[in-house]
Amino acid sequence: MTPDVRPLVAGNWKMNGLRASLDQLKAIGEGVKGPLSDKVESLICPPATLLYVATAVVTESPLAIGAQDCHTAISGAHTGDISAEMIADCFGTYVIVGHSERRTDHAESDALVRAKAEAALAADVAAIICIGETGDERKAGQTLDVLERQLRDSVPDGATAARVVIAYEPVWAIGTGLTPSAADVEEAHAFLRAELIARFSSEGKSIRILYGGSVKPGNAADLMAIANVDGALIGGASLKAEDFLAIYRSYETLLA
Ligand code: 13P
Repeated sequence: MTPDVRPLVAGNWKMNGLRASLDQLKAIGEGVKGPLSDKVESLICPPATLLYVATAVVTESPLAIGAQDCHTAISGAHTGDISAEMIADCFGTYVIVGHSERRTDHAESDALVRAKAEAALAADVAAIICIGETGDERKAGQTLDVLERQLRDSVPDGATAARVVIAYEPVWAIGTGLTPSAADVEEAHAFLRAELIARFSSEGKSIRILYGGSVKPGNAADLMAIANVDGALIGGASLKAEDFLAIYRSYETLLA
């Protein structure tokens, strides 16, 4: 946690979710109602096919809805892509950019990720910018070098705490059930905080840094308690309302 920073518990549904999954979304929307929502922000990023209907399902809930990627352009001849303006038009308030699966599957560079984040900010959509080392990079002792480069090159100069969120997702921890030790998470987040402050001065103190990679109900409280961990980006466990809500509610005790 970071003093005076409102944590964000975010779910990334990836390429999962049919109309039938809206029941889970509705249950999440109901479950995050209540006093904790003043202190903790919640977000689900369903696939683009469900974006518009998802925002309609949770209109009475503090749950925010976001997208998983956007193009750098506002519109045009880019078959299959969606723009940040389209996300805003569907009432999406966040977009994930630079997820490791996109960096790998679509060969996305830091420069492209930065341009996508800039497009999001221009459309008034907050950007969740993902960074993280691979298993080989960690073994080679390059973790902090990788984070330094990705943060420097993927994050736009206009980043503010209201519009940009960093998600530290070690690639080897995604979908594997493995997580770094608490000491390793603490080291990475402290490093990122120092880098953000060096670049963005006092604004960098309150830019949220989420941890992602095998966050589950059973480990969430321990991970979220670590200094400079300002929430979670959750894959698999966000697909089930019960699990997402258990992670969200780990803040009941942490913030008590
Ligand atoms: P898992 O929680 O399934 O490991 O996925 C993490 C992730 O990639 C979220 O963006």
